[in-house]
This record gives sequence, C-alpha cells and structure tokens, in this order.
Amino acid sequence: MVITIDGPAASGKGTAAKALAARLGFDYLDTGAMYRAVAWAALQRGISCSDVEALRTLLPQLHLELTPQGILLDGQDITSHLRTPEVGEGASLVAVIPEVRRWLVELQRRHAQGRHLVTEGRDQGTVVFPDADLKFFLTAELPTRARRRWLELQQRGLATDYETVLHELQQRDTRDSTRSDSPLRQPPDAILIDSTHLTPQQVLDIMELHARQRLPIP
Ligand code: DC
Repeated sequence: MVITIDGPAASGKGTAAKALAARLGFDYLDTGAMYRAVAWAALQRGISCSDVEALRTLLPQLHLELTPQGILLDGQDITSHLRTPEVGEGASLVAVIPEVRRWLVELQRRHAQGRHLVTEGRDQGTVVFPDADLKFFLTAELPTRARRRWLELQQRGLATDYETVLHELQQRDTRDSTRSDSPLRQPPDAILIDSTHLTPQQVLDIMELHARQRLPIP
C-alpha cells in the first residue's frame, strides 16, 4: 500500500507523514530530502545548483541510499546537513532538471516495492505513484507556513528574520509550481487538508481516520 502526501514548502508534510507512518506501521519516505541530497552534493563540490550541465555530469557519480535512519551519500550519513535554507533553495533549483527528477523518481519507485509506504513530496500522487491507495494534499496559508518555518529555524539556532523566510518560501512555491517537469499540483483524487487553523495532532487524526476507513489496515 502507498499513501502519498504532497504540498507546498513548510505545510507540515514531513511531520504528518512521519507520524502517520508510525501510527499505521508503514515505512516513511521524505523525497524532499533526496532533492536536498543532490543539492548538498553539488554545493560541497562548489557546483552551482542552477548549473545544469555540471549537475548532469555529477549525477552518475553519486550513490544515494535510503535507510530507516536517513540518507547516505556515497556511504556517508548526510541527513543532518540537509535542513538548511541554503540546501532547501538548492533542492528547489536542482528539482527543475528532468534528469535529476528521472533518477530520483526511479529510486523512489524502487524503494516502494514490497513495502507499505507513506511518501511525501511535490509529485508523489501526480507523477510517481498515480495509482496510490490514498492521496493527501496538505497546504496552509503562506504567512502561517512562513511563521512555522521561521519558528523551526529559530529553535534550531539558525537565526533569520520572518520577512526573509516569507520571501524565500514564496519564491520556492512559485518555482516548484511553475516548472515544466512535474510541477506541484493537487492530484484530482487527493483529499485536501488546509492546516492553517489545525494543530499537527488534528492533521494527523484526520489522515489516520481516512486511512483506516479506506484501507485494509490491521
Ligand atoms: O519538501 P522539501 O522542502 O524538503 O523539498 C525541497 C525541494 O525539493 C522543493 O522545494 C522542491 C523539491 N522537491 C520536488 O521537486 N519533488 C519532490 N517530490 C520533493 C521535493
């Protein structure tokens, strides 16, 4: 069984997907982390995340592995390096390149084989798993998402101001939803959840209810 959760940056997809997977006894896949891993690998080598030619050359040299603990790049656990604004911006840039998408989509589909999976991203219900058993589209108003992301960054000691976070999120939303390959879209058969006025707990309860009503979960 596959459950997809798509939505814009800082909509709470990660928190919801991880917790839903734990409640249902499913595995969890963070596909944003895979795009972030490619961006991180580029930045480490001094390659710009918008240098398409250099990224095409880099791709076959990379070895990405998905483990329950996180992402390994060439055998090294890089998970703790991925959730910075710089890497998030880079991920959104490399995600425009069709070769990068093809490579990661193949890894995602391979990872889903033989598992029950909750997977989150931008294209999971539209492109990667169009026949998923259950699809959610999770969103929230931009100022709410910006405030949540700003608080998260503050708590992690990555000081930045709210206006900057808001501006960067807005840019990222525009890029992610206007690119030509697999833009962020609400799948027509997805359940829409607007979390603007909901707590993470409420979002999770709604998702679990739908999952238990519709899927043969023991
Ligand atoms: O969800 P996130 O913030 O970790 O994602 C980082 C970037 O990766 C996002 O701005 C766009 C890209 N992405 C994508 O294009 N497709 C996905 N399935 C997941 C992420």
